[in-house]
Amino acid sequence: MAGIKAIVYESNTGFTKEYAELLSEIIGIPAIPVIDNSMFHGEREPVIFLGWVCAGKINGIRMARLKFNPVIIAGVGMTQQSDKYAFALAQQNNIDVPFYYLQGGLHRERLKGFYKIMFKMVANPILRKAEKGKSQLSEHEQYTVDLIKNGGSFVKHENLEELIKKYKEINSILKIS
Ligand SMILES: Cc1cc2nc3c(=O)[nH]c(=O)nc-3n(C[C@H](O)[C@H](O)[C@H](O)COP(=O)(O)O)c2cc1C
Repeated sequence: MAGIKAIVYESNTGFTKEYAELLSEIIGIPAIPVIDNSMFHGEREPVIFLGWVCAGKINGIRMARLKFNPVIIAGVGMTQQSDKYAFALAQQNNIDVPFYYLQGGLHRERLKGFYKIMFKMVANPILRKAEKGKSQLSEHEQYTVDLIKNGGSFVKHENLEELIKKYKEINSILKIS
């Protein structure tokens, strides 16, 4: 079996695409949207899959699993980087391959249609709680309020380090088997 063929991703507002393209530059394999069929030859080839997190679900994972064989998966969300959150996401999405959580960010102005409405439903109760009194907010809630109000990006090269190590390990095994 040859090595990992591509980085396949699903992105809504751009952060996951940014990570996929950054990773592509570093490891030298192409980054393509999961709906792109240019690298799909019906053989479920090994890929890295990156998908954005929506209400705990990793978007695009179903299609990625149908078309490819994701040997490494990462979820990109606005939650702060944490092993606990990564573990919860892996469980919720039935992931049985190496999994990484990558902190993306929030571009509210890029949200449209259904996701814009859905996000308002999640964000408004937190914003209302914040209006009532800052002292009642946990550190995580305060971070979320600031991000909802101001937006921001946390995409950085360092967040990919562990994933890249794992890529090298798996890719060398795939190449000799
Ligand atoms: C409707 C909706 C639900 C979301 N749910 C979560 C979530 O459960 N956990 C999380 O960390 N981020 C959540 N986010 C934030 C996005 O995952 C985050 O903005 C991510 O960086 C988007 O990546 P993208 O730019 O590639 O689409 C949600 C965003 C929207 C719009």
